[in-house]
Amino acid sequence: MSISVVILAAGQGTRMKSTKPKVLHEISGKPMLFHAIDAAQQISDDIVVVLYHQAERIQTQIEEVYEGVRFHMQDAQQFPGTGGAMKGVTTRHSRTLILNGDMPLITKASLEALTSGDADINMSVIELENPNGYGRVIIEEGKVLEIVEQKDCTPEQLEVKTVNAGIYAVNTALLERYIPQLDNNNAQKEYYLTDIVKMAVEEGRTVHPVYVAEEEFKGVNSKLDLAHAEEIMQRRIKEALMMQGVIMRLPQTIYIDCRAEFEGECILENGVSIQGESRLVNAHIKAGSVIEDSHIEDSDVGPMGRIRPGTTLKGTHIGNFVEVKKSTLTGVKAGHLAYIGDATVEEGSNIGAGVITCNYDGKKKYQTKIGKNVFVGSDTQLVAPVTIEDDVMIAAGSTINKNVEKGALAISRAPMKTIKNFFYKFFGAS
Ligand code: UD1
Ligand code: MG
Repeated sequence: MSISVVILAAGQGTRMKSTKPKVLHEISGKPMLFHAIDAAQQISDDIVVVLYHQAERIQTQIEEVYEGVRFHMQDAQQFPGTGGAMKGVTTRHSRTLILNGDMPLITKASLEALTSGDADINMSVIELENPNGYGRVIIEEGKVLEIVEQKDCTPEQLEVKTVNAGIYAVNTALLERYIPQLDNNNAQKEYYLTDIVKMAVEEGRTVHPVYVAEEEFKGVNSKLDLAHAEEIMQRRIKEALMMQGVIMRLPQTIYIDCRAEFEGECILENGVSIQGESRLVNAHIKAGSVIEDSHIEDSDVGPMGRIRPGTTLKGTHIGNFVEVKKSTLTGVKAGHLAYIGDATVEEGSNIGAGVITCNYDGKKKYQTKIGKNVFVGSDTQLVAPVTIEDDVMIAAGSTINKNVEKGALAISRAPMKTIKNFFYKFFGAS
């Protein structure tokens, strides 16, 4: 890994129309900048992220997840622009790859293509029907001559459809020599990194265009771009998982976080959403269910089940309209309409329809513990903290606010009364 990577992420991202920095907007569960860092880590052990706008917030988030990423603060007041971003950046290896932080769809294969060969500069180019907004790449006889920013183009140059995708692999020694020489004599009064191409050409250096796929290199600048990038990322995630053996019914209706893991025989029905760092092993998730940051093994959920963060299900059946939160269920059946929160339920227990763990008193959350082979009758409220020992039956409609000992029946109901012929007295006889 003899290449360094610099990721430019200092821009403001105005077109995103958000107080959140552009590069922290998420795609398939991860900030877009993290996707770029992930790709960079596959080819390099020396990564520098250039920051300026909301630098602290972005740096903190990166440091929570990544180790060894270095940071450089751009002096954007004095030196605005992509060239300004590179001022003062030092890299350790003899080649430096410069990436944009808003390109979450780049792949390792493309980065390798850009870093191969021995040209002084490899630069990424795309052929676009509509080149609007991009720097135009002037190529003659297969040789790059210069990059002209749209705002600096002559009318003829505006017609050029070969554009700069904004990623370059550069000989580090040259880069260190060129960056201090950049000026801002251009329409935007910015320091353009793209000017290093002209400098290299003037010195007789080789600048090699690497044609890349538009899908990977289109920058995300707006929330519309964000949605398009999400679609592409989702397609990739699902295709890889299906090839790995996951069955998906109507995959275009399914959402899967990029951090989710699958093992064994898993089935996802239409409209399923798998969020966060979930792990599914031999799981069948039925239509319309949502799974968040949970571990589901040898179990089925739904249709319309909701499994919230911190849940572990093993050998368990969760039916329709059941919500489970931060609970561990092993060998349990909860077929219909229940809320199980902050609970542990053991082997052989059955949770009837309408059972609720009352886990919250408005201030604090409390635990419910249910042992083995417990039959919790329908419409029971379990007022936590409460412990139900093994082999217990709880009668339907009970409010359980005391612990129940092993082998017992617990019943709490108002006695039922019947009044004969009341209907006829009230409405009159027909
Ligand atoms: C740049 C290229 C253009 C190319 C396009 C591809 C230049 C001068 N132009 O234009 O030829 O077609 O990318 O997307 O480089 N950034 C900083 N500091 C700054 C300004 C930008 O770190 O002062 C970062 C941004 O956060 C972003 C990247 O550099 O990640 C590109 O910036 P952006 O403003 O999108 O570049 P363009 O003007 O679109
Ligand atoms: Mg710009």
